[in-house]
Amino acid sequence: MTNCSKGAECKSVCVLSKILADTYSLLLKTQNVHWNVQSCNFWDIHLMTDGHYNDLFAAIDVIAERIRMVGGKAPATFSELASLSSFDEKITPGADGKGMLQELLKAHEAICKDLRDGLASIAELNDHGTADVLGSRLSFHEKVVWMLKASLG
Ligand SMILES: [Fe+2]
Repeated sequence: MTNCSKGAECKSVCVLSKILADTYSLLLKTQNVHWNVQSCNFWDIHLMTDGHYNDLFAAIDVIAERIRMVGGKAPATFSELASLSSFDEKITPGADGKGMLQELLKAHEAICKDLRDGLASIAELNDHGTADVLGSRLSFHEKVVWMLKASLG
């Protein structure tokens, strides 16, 4: 993710851009579940995903503005975001409620991995502001991983 040869600032931009792209993919994936889930637990899933996509939407702005603060340009087209994300926004057609939650869980685990890798790769830069943004995103996604695992039993 961060085999960037353009120096310290670029490293933070690369890490943040990937997390922005992951967050956008996960926003769409979560809204897909919120809108299209069919399950005897519909209301629980509908409400839980409402909270999650609102958090993801707010986070996108925070991450994009941090990219600007460290000298980068925020990726802002679907094609650019799709090329940067570790996973796509799709949910398997025909997936039931449980399957949808499993797909969300996989995506949250993937973004946790990217956040941990990103934090490790910028550790030596003393870019505390970026580390703060990434750390706070990691806390959110770890909490959602717990919630989804608990929901899946
Ligand atoms: Fe809604």
